[in-house]
Amino acid sequence: MALVNENFLKLQGSYLFAEQASRVAQYKAENPAADIIRLGIGDVTQPLPQAVVTAMKQAVDEMGQKETFRGYGPGPGYPFLIEKIIANEFKIRGVELATDEVFVSDGSKNDVGNFQELFGLHNTVAIADPAYPVYVDSNVMAGRTGGATASGQYGRIVYLPCTEENGMKPALPESKVDIIYLCFPNNPTGMTLSKAELKVWVDYAKANQAIILFDAAYEAYIQEESVPHSIFEVEGAREVAVEFRSFSKTAGFTGTRCAYTVIPKEAAVYDAEGKAHCLNRLWFRRTTTKFGGTSYPVQAAAAAIYTEEGKQQVKATIGYYMQNAKIIKKGLQKAGYQVFGGTNAPYIWMQTPNKMKSWDFFDKLLKEVHIVGTPGAGFGPSGEGYFRLSSFGTREDCIRAVERLTKL
Ligand code: MLT
Repeated sequence: MALVNENFLKLQGSYLFAEQASRVAQYKAENPAADIIRLGIGDVTQPLPQAVVTAMKQAVDEMGQKETFRGYGPGPGYPFLIEKIIANEFKIRGVELATDEVFVSDGSKNDVGNFQELFGLHNTVAIADPAYPVYVDSNVMAGRTGGATASGQYGRIVYLPCTEENGMKPALPESKVDIIYLCFPNNPTGMTLSKAELKVWVDYAKANQAIILFDAAYEAYIQEESVPHSIFEVEGAREVAVEFRSFSKTAGFTGTRCAYTVIPKEAAVYDAEGKAHCLNRLWFRRTTTKFGGTSYPVQAAAAAIYTEEGKQQVKATIGYYMQNAKIIKKGLQKAGYQVFGGTNAPYIWMQTPNKMKSWDFFDKLLKEVHIVGTPGAGFGPSGEGYFRLSSFGTREDCIRAVERLTKL
């Protein structure tokens, strides 16, 4: 008899974005004429930069020629891409990394979801609330949590509420935790932390031999000079942090798939005797065992964002989405909504009118004005009463969405 992994049975309902997609599909099937504006899942709408397309085509051509064909690539990624990442993303901010501290993958969602495998089941995990649901769900699946309570929280997870009262910035946990998930610029609230605020977390992690899993998928959207792009800009972070980066939102790779994870060699986890083990080597072991690598044409395409042409094209697309964010934010404020984010991140986080339940607001918007957004409750209990709009739509859709929300 094949026994189920009972941890999966603890999961509540469907994955947030699957539930969202299914409600929209059902509504569309029943109302085929509805002109739906999709500002829900953070999926990009602008095409790949031309430099990326050219590089990918060239790489595919190379794969079709005997002389330039490539089979399996190096598991953690090709040096030509890793060297460009280090030079253009980190060295320019004063962060030194070795090439074997960067692991290229086919997506940050996978890395963020899989990384918890390196940690024992008896660790206490702290997760900001609201947060990208993969952090919680992957720990539930692994068996690092209890069941769900009526409030929607899982036992044994330490939730770090991010509310209007604390400026949507998590406070240090009151009890000792071992693994901490942080995401800045934040999905879903769009908020950021200063270097000094991040330093508080690094100091906590050092004092408690904890590890920070830092999701920086939206760093390319930072507009304000003073906001750090990497946790490794903070002194001491190399010993206690791992950082996840993605080309998805940076360069339109949601359908192309390429990301990377930075694991400094000083970052350690401990066995029952207190002996330190290098996280970097553990992830190397896992990656080379369970992952076949990101395809050569995709890595060649990703490297093209670091050409002069690629940089300009990426900058223009990010500028386009951030202009969308400005339009949505200003439009909603003018219409009287209470709105957050949208300054250093492509997400607008709004209060639902009269503290309406966020899934009720989702249904109302879908039915009455044909707009899809993401209910705050899907990101955790502290997201209840809030709603996220993505600025990854087209300009026209963002303008039309504001018009419709103004009339609502
Ligand atoms: C989101 O909408 O929060 C993300 O785009 C989903 C994802 O990247 O998996």
